[in-house]
Amino acid sequence: MTDNKNIKAVVLAAGKGTRMKSDIPKVLHKILNKPLLGYVLDNVKNITDEAFVIVGHKAQAVTDYIKDNYPRAKTVLQTPQLGTGHAVSMVCPYLENYSGLILILCGDTPLITEETLKKFIEYHNSLNSDLTVMSAIFDNPANYGRIIRENDNSLKCIVEEKDATDEEKAVKEINAGIYCLNWDKIKPAFSQLKSNNAQGEYYLTDIISWGKSQELNVNAFTLENNEEIYGINSRKNLAEAAKIMNNEKLNRLADNGVTIIDFSSTWISTDTEIGSDTTILPFTYLEGKNKIGKSCQIGPCTHFRGDVEIGDNCKIGNFVELKKAKIGDNTNVGHLSYIGDSELGTDVNIGAGTITANYDALSKVKSKTVIKSCAKIGSNTVLVAPVTVDEGANVGAGSVITKNIPEWSLALTRSPLKIISDWVKTRKNSLK
Ligand code: UD1
Ligand code: MG
Repeated sequence: MTDNKNIKAVVLAAGKGTRMKSDIPKVLHKILNKPLLGYVLDNVKNITDEAFVIVGHKAQAVTDYIKDNYPRAKTVLQTPQLGTGHAVSMVCPYLENYSGLILILCGDTPLITEETLKKFIEYHNSLNSDLTVMSAIFDNPANYGRIIRENDNSLKCIVEEKDATDEEKAVKEINAGIYCLNWDKIKPAFSQLKSNNAQGEYYLTDIISWGKSQELNVNAFTLENNEEIYGINSRKNLAEAAKIMNNEKLNRLADNGVTIIDFSSTWISTDTEIGSDTTILPFTYLEGKNKIGKSCQIGPCTHFRGDVEIGDNCKIGNFVELKKAKIGDNTNVGHLSYIGDSELGTDVNIGAGTITANYDALSKVKSKTVIKSCAKIGSNTVLVAPVTVDEGANVGAGSVITKNIPEWSLALTRSPLKIISDWVKTRKNSLK
């Protein structure tokens, strides 16, 4: 059933995120420059046929992000925000005639993977379950809802920390906040939830005890890698989640033949692909979507801002920033350069301190720089875009290039060198 058919995702993203102490809605806080909500939506994109995102607090900002980045997802407004159960009930009018599966996730739980979600849905189907909740065992279960089981180990209910007795608080099995349910069976629960709890909210977690009371088939899927359901409620959680996500990514890259010299100072986004035998030197920070070829050397202290595509055998060195740049095989950008909105061919050499001046701050227009194969750009060159340096052309060091440079020619904007003999001696004498 994970073949993209008859499964809809509902992502909860309306809450205030009080514990973040922020003007930015929690789900738009970022890891490696990508909002938490983006990770969740990317993870459901291949396994569901439609996604609803419940928005409420700062709805406009969240809606704008979704429109720009996930145009196929639908936003549903929850106002006021009366709890997670109330949030899911907002989709009822959209799903009146729907009878497939619903996968519910929280927008603040970005570490979950598509692979785990697939297993979760398969587990739900294999048990003919009506409702399955994802759980995990945490040494420190503080702040999560606790999974309470009957003596025979079957599920009984979920108790939120704020409503839990000391005995319940001691339970280490927690609710991940991810559910799979057969919509036609569970839908009636949403008109029956009550808010008589410590937070005065309609808890989604109460669908478990409701399901039991209706003698439905209710199950828990206990996760092996409990880091995946790490929920973000505070800035500390955000930093910790970023570390976990990055470490996972670096391990995966290393397993696939990428040398990472220093795991502790290297940050690579989940959306970056790297070919084998590429070496990543310390203090490298690669955010956004990027693709790096084989046998390259990146770093130390290199920053990719996304939409970067690099061929094989390239060297991108110290203090180089790349953004929206396509770079061919055997091309080097060795030191202290900024290459943005650019296309570089193969066998290009970019001298130290080269800048593509791609942005006109007055018109706010960004323009493109094209540097064709075998061109050599001397150190400290400014390429004022839009501009093209044609195949094989050379640019002398210190030039400001404002016109297209024809192939195999030399371009120089340097003023002629002047030497005044004995100038220093003469000057010193005149000061005596
Ligand atoms: C929730 C669960 C808890 C679970 C934990 C996992 C409930 C009652 N509790 O607690 O059992 O262990 O997640 O991380 O469900 N939201 C809305 N509308 C609302 C309220 C919340 O959309 O009215 C959204 C939030 O934006 C967030 C998600 O629901 O993305 C979870 O809300 P949050 O307040 O973080 O719940 P937790 O206290 O973490
Ligand atoms: Mg939470």
